[in-house]
Amino acid sequence: MPQLTVEGVGVYRVPAGKRLVNALVDECKIDQLHVCGGHAQCTTCQVFFAAGEPPLMRPAERRALASMMLLGHRGMRLSCQVTCDRDMTVRVFSRLEGSGRETAGPRPSDSFEMDPAPIDALQTPSLPPEEHRPPEVHIGFAGNARTICDKAGGPTGPGGIDEVPATPPRSPARTRIPHCAIEAFMPTHVTGETSDRGSQRDRPATPDQPFYRPTIRPPVPVLTILDDGSLEIGEDIRIRSPSVSIGRSGGDVVLQLDATISGQHAEIRRIDGESGPQWVLTDLKSINGTFVRVSSADIVESTIFIMGSRRYRLEGLPPPSDEEGDDTSSNTNEALSGPAIGSHPVLVDLNKRSNGIRHVLRTSSVTIGNASGACDIVIDDPLLAPYHATICRNNEGEWQVFASQSCNGVWVNIDSIMLAPLCYFQCGEQQFRFAIP
Ligand code: FES
Repeated sequence: MPQLTVEGVGVYRVPAGKRLVNALVDECKIDQLHVCGGHAQCTTCQVFFAAGEPPLMRPAERRALASMMLLGHRGMRLSCQVTCDRDMTVRVFSRLEGSGRETAGPRPSDSFEMDPAPIDALQTPSLPPEEHRPPEVHIGFAGNARTICDKAGGPTGPGGIDEVPATPPRSPARTRIPHCAIEAFMPTHVTGETSDRGSQRDRPATPDQPFYRPTIRPPVPVLTILDDGSLEIGEDIRIRSPSVSIGRSGGDVVLQLDATISGQHAEIRRIDGESGPQWVLTDLKSINGTFVRVSSADIVESTIFIMGSRRYRLEGLPPPSDEEGDDTSSNTNEALSGPAIGSHPVLVDLNKRSNGIRHVLRTSSVTIGNASGACDIVIDDPLLAPYHATICRNNEGEWQVFASQSCNGVWVNIDSIMLAPLCYFQCGEQQFRFAIP
């Protein structure tokens, strides 16, 4: 039986081949979140592999991680998509406790074979063998004669012409439209499902039957200037041009009243890569920066991130090769000034009214939130979740921040970044939603 080590919890023997998410719940007795029931859709079952990360990844997991901009973050995996087939060491940080949810989610099935959702649900269905396909027909015209041809273009009737109209056409429009009855079509909604914007209008009649999409022109993303206090509702702008700029005094999206936005603040530009069009968000050297909402991010000295109502920076990061062992003393909140404390990094509150409060990170994994007793660093900020984020150092000595499930998330400043099909970013105090329908 493989050995599963959960950092800070214990070491367990787990059945070979068992889904990791279920092993965490059953063998390790951890309240691991798995909101979508193991279908690689919610990413709440994220874990961090300190050792023993499986080298292979299922397509569904790859897509889910990519949509959350987690693909490429070594060690970040979805526990519902991993089986216990080797010794593993994981760090668990997405738990029911502190998430504000009532339950961890429906139990994932015990094996992928029994999973009702196919592993690669978005895979294009393959065509049946040639001999089993129904004959394709093409309705066309040869002069005034209507022909029915096979898919290769050859006539199906004797002599190549099946039917000749008995009467000459009265108008080109009438002759060129075969008999048809226009369907007054309303798609059948998927029962019980609502989209993330609360509407079912755009849902296909069946989940695996997508609606028509253009294949030649690029898709049209929707940029939403979010209403205050919402991550869904706002003013929609459809991006039909190669670029859209945002600013206070100029550009395509002008936000005159937000003094924290620079005159020319940020730009979204489409680039056409080998895998199709993609959209890149670039900060135009704004004064207050452009931030994207992340589920995790690497932290370097210049990284500024927003949690709750405040901005923070990590100072005094040791070089990645630093091998110093963890200090077992607890992390503390201290009102200090000056450089990093000893060799420990310091989380600096950049809010002017906070007077530069510094929180010393004395261990390699520190939880942050506003619930006293639940986190290593407790910050009195109502916009923080009880357990809001974890800052930790990986085996290479690099520091990373991981957001837990919360309303207000973790936002990290960027110079330029490829936007995910659904993501959020912030310029000044204005938040935006970017979505490719
Ligand atoms: S992605 Fe939802 S449980 Fe794993």
